[in-house]
Amino acid sequence: MPMDIETIQRQSGILGESEAIQEVLQTVAQIAPTDISVLVTGESGTGKEMVAKAIHKASRRKFGPIVTVNCGAIPAGIIESELFGHKKGSFTGADETRKGYFEAANEGTIFLDEIGETPLETQVKLLRVIEQGEFMRVGDNVTRKVDVRIVTATNKDLGEDTRRGDFRQDLYFRLKTVTINLPPLREHPVDIPLLVERFGLEFATRNDLAFKGFTPEAIRYLKAYGWPGNVRELKNVVESILALNPGERITPEMLSTQIKASGYTASQTLPVVVDTPPEQSDRELILRQLLFIRQDLSDLKQLAAGLKVPGSPVDPYLPSPVPLVGEGEKAVVFAEDVTHIESRPLIDPEAAGEITVEELERELIQQTLIRFNHNRRRTAQALGIAERTLYRKIQAYGLEKK
Ligand SMILES: Nc1ncnc2c1ncn2[C@@H]1O[C@H](COP(=O)(O)OP(=O)(O)OP(=O)(O)O)[C@@H](O)[C@H]1O
Ligand SMILES: [Mg+2]
Repeated sequence: MPMDIETIQRQSGILGESEAIQEVLQTVAQIAPTDISVLVTGESGTGKEMVAKAIHKASRRKFGPIVTVNCGAIPAGIIESELFGHKKGSFTGADETRKGYFEAANEGTIFLDEIGETPLETQVKLLRVIEQGEFMRVGDNVTRKVDVRIVTATNKDLGEDTRRGDFRQDLYFRLKTVTINLPPLREHPVDIPLLVERFGLEFATRNDLAFKGFTPEAIRYLKAYGWPGNVRELKNVVESILALNPGERITPEMLSTQIKASGYTASQTLPVVVDTPPEQSDRELILRQLLFIRQDLSDLKQLAAGLKVPGSPVDPYLPSPVPLVGEGEKAVVFAEDVTHIESRPLIDPEAAGEITVEELERELIQQTLIRFNHNRRRTAQALGIAERTLYRKIQAYGLEKK
């Protein structure tokens, strides 16, 4: 017996009265009781994961586990052992026999998110488990059975990937038999007032704030916006606007600054790619780039000014910054890049114009190495650069201890 739409909505938290969302819920209700595999498509932030969970909760498997696997986040080399498990000793590091996600999801649902990112070799094995419920652990020769319902999701055009040969056609046809396509928010703006109301109330309650709502002009403003980040972006905007204007009724003026700052709008300065899925990783990427730039700049400043900036933190887990000075290149430092040059000069003013940053850098590194008896950790600390950066520079300048 299919579950009714209201129950599905209540259980899953999927909001929306528009025809588009009601249709999605109708399909969920129809297919949930069966074991058929489902492909959920839609842009980032449209609610694909919510739909996958809704299917599980409305199925006979609801008391079993739901295991979510982000196929895009697992390195290609280990994805098979993660999905299907491995036998002890099957590869370096396989110290124990381990069950994979499929076995963990037995009698429940496995949600394979970003399915388009799975390597072609793995796709063959997925097809087998979908068609026959059979798989083998990596390095094993025992065929195992598993009772799992498979829900997949993607925000890519899998049809296009298939034509290009990046995705197996047989798997694609198998997956797309039941497809639930989530509409982008700009195609169902009628749901915006309801979403705003609910997100606003929830956020205000959680944070002990008064919620006075949005003015009709503000709602109109929200409806006219394109929402490249879809419902997730709307939720973020609502939450930050309430945090910034506690207890106030929200106006379009408050919104325009916030939407510009939300990072989804086509910013020319930062490489924010809206349709690559986990925006978390985009943010990390940008942060890393900024850190590199900052570190390079501070390295340069120290060298140019001959200063040691004490305690500039260097994250050992970050890759070393890209060198600004390429091999055999003479460095040119622009005055505006050096923000604070101390009054007491560290090099003889007479030498200015005669010496390059590269020469200065080599000399500085050499002297510091001598001072710390070639202890690289202490040398790097004193120079305020990462040990790995120092290592690279020692090699580049041929400063290895004779
Ligand atoms: N119809 C909806 N009703 C209520 N909340 C929603 C709806 N759609 C999306 N959301 C909210 O938006 C956010 C993103 O949803 P979800 O993670 O399911 O999107 P997604 O399509 O999987 O995104 P991505 O492709 O980036 O992984 C979540 O906070 C979710 O609660
Ligand atoms: Mg998702």
